[in-house]
Amino acid sequence: MVGSVGNGLMDLGEREKAEPLPNEFDPKDIVDDGSLPDSNGVGTKEENGNSREIVLGRNVHKMCFAIKEPEADDEVTGEREAYMASVLARYRKSLIDRTKHHLGYPYNLDFDYGALSQLQHFSINNLGDPFIESNYGVHSRQFEVGVLDWFARIWELEKNEYWGYITNCGTEGNLHGILVGREVFPDGILYASSESHYSVFKAARMYRMDCVKVATLISGEIDCNDFKAKLLQNKNRPAVINVNIGTTVKGAVDDLDLVIQTLEENGFKDRFYIHCDGALFGLMMPFVKRAPKVSFKKPIGSVSVSGHKFVGCPMPCGVQITRMKHINVLSSNVEYLASRDATIMGSRNGHAPIFLWYTLNRKGYKGFQKEVQKCLRNAHYLKDRMKESGIGAMLNELSSTVVFERPKDEEFVRQWQLACSGNIAHVVVMPSVTIEKLDSFLNELIQKRSCWYQEGKASPPCLATDIGEENCFCSMHKK
Ligand SMILES: Cc1ncc(COP(=O)(O)O)c(C=O)c1O
Repeated sequence: MVGSVGNGLMDLGEREKAEPLPNEFDPKDIVDDGSLPDSNGVGTKEENGNSREIVLGRNVHKMCFAIKEPEADDEVTGEREAYMASVLARYRKSLIDRTKHHLGYPYNLDFDYGALSQLQHFSINNLGDPFIESNYGVHSRQFEVGVLDWFARIWELEKNEYWGYITNCGTEGNLHGILVGREVFPDGILYASSESHYSVFKAARMYRMDCVKVATLISGEIDCNDFKAKLLQNKNRPAVINVNIGTTVKGAVDDLDLVIQTLEENGFKDRFYIHCDGALFGLMMPFVKRAPKVSFKKPIGSVSVSGHKFVGCPMPCGVQITRMKHINVLSSNVEYLASRDATIMGSRNGHAPIFLWYTLNRKGYKGFQKEVQKCLRNAHYLKDRMKESGIGAMLNELSSTVVFERPKDEEFVRQWQLACSGNIAHVVVMPSVTIEKLDSFLNELIQKRSCWYQEGKASPPCLATDIGEENCFCSMHKK
């Protein structure tokens, strides 16, 4: 994590393959139904080597690096150090391989934070408010506030009018934004399109808010006709709205101006709070010329973005910005900290702001602009090549998420770490996704498809309802 000196891709020879990691498990943990542990500890069961069924309530440890108590003479023999070094070396190799074959999640894996390795010896913690120093002195608030100022400027909110903090992830930004909305309108109903990230619905459950799901267009954008109909059914209660600046699966950007117009034209003027979930494209939109502007000059309440996605921070983090006037309702003084706390978590990662500060300084506005343009170009390249090869695909105008048919073979899905939903999968083109990587992926996909869909065997699924007839190349919609 901290002290990363780049992702090390250059260190590994092309043909050097990651050795499998040692399987350290207790035989009593092996289950006889082929269950594998997921990264979240939920058991998953292989079905014919294909789809994986999630087995709830089962915590299967098929593979883990067990902690072994040191032997009395370990220090003398050095055996323990050698064992740990070999596990770590092999783990590192597997990370290099997994980094090379990653396409499905919106993480920019291309970075070099070597200069920050000197800080790994410090337990940097920004617990409490970014603007009020606590008694804990090993913090990085000076970096945090610099980063927050940068984002507030991008989203057009004056220094003395904003409040914000560096979160642990985009989810925490959503939890915070929606909480602020609920505090501003305690009897508000939460509206979110059905393609919103699951953290939005998690927030509704956590805060016990009434939540109304709004339909989406084929693109994945919120359908403002349905939004209007749902607002009119609940005219007597204020509205808290989650607006997506990039949906998780299709990378669709909700039309913020149309959402505001729909609210104002239907009797909700001054009775709404908008949280913009920019986890995915929050930092890309400002650099896309034709993109609708996310700005606090519009009647929005908060914006959040993930720091480990487009920015490329090696640890999960995010940025949350809201209006200062909203935050006082959330704040409480904490004597133990000698600070104020309006955040969701307690301790806060003090390394993350330094990583963000470092990248923002290095790349600057122009650097991000170039990277955004490259991602959009590469995404178009992938979509066009897929279509030329007879694979149905969709790419929203403001997006670098290419949506296409779910590969038939789960092994292929895992190999390229694709994110799938129903019949569709996607590749999110981030700065670390090069044309060479896309070519290698596509060549493999084309070759595999020729086996999966041999004459007379299975045929590709129809994607008309997912990506539109015009983008679907199934046997019925093939042109
Ligand atoms: C639209 C959207 N919102 C929120 C999140 C959650 O972000 P994080 O994974 O940083 O918690 C994601 C994650 O992919 C997302 O796509």
